Amino acid sequence: MKILVLHGPNLNLLGTREPEIYGKMTLDDINARITGRGAQLGAEIRCQQSNHEGVLIDALQDARAWADGVIFNPGGYTHTSVALRDAIAAIGIPVVEVHLSNVYAREEFRHKSLVSAVCKGKISGFGWKSYLLALEALAGE
Ligand code: DQA
Repeated sequence: MKILVLHGPNLNLLGTREPEIYGKMTLDDINARITGRGAQLGAEIRCQQSNHEGVLIDALQDARAWADGVIFNPGGYTHTSVALRDAIAAIGIPVVEVHLSNVYAREEFRHKSLVSAVCKGKISGFGWKSYLLALEALAGE
């Protein structure tokens, strides 16, 4: 099984970005943990981060050709992007929406997700472990 782990805008700043909300682990630390757990589960993991909506769309479209599933934290685009929602709906492979923070315990504008309805499922609020839970869900299929 091959899985794309896709991180959206500002997640490259993890470790220093609002650590009281997002934790102290860097994106490299998190990617290493996901990749390690993937190896245990027999899943090949490829990680990518971009601050740009179009690059994220390209990554989702490319995943059609090689991935069995996608773990996606769209960051702030979660709450705004029709184009990312359409890309997820178009690719026909399962996408799990992931958030480090519990978006429902935060500002009201974070309560709305444009992508949830086209994702297989959603995990929010468990810090970096949200990604591992998503991996367990996909790799257990
Ligand atoms: C986030 C939550 C979003 O609301 C926010 O814009 C992010 C990170 C999370 O992982 O908790 O950038 O997706």
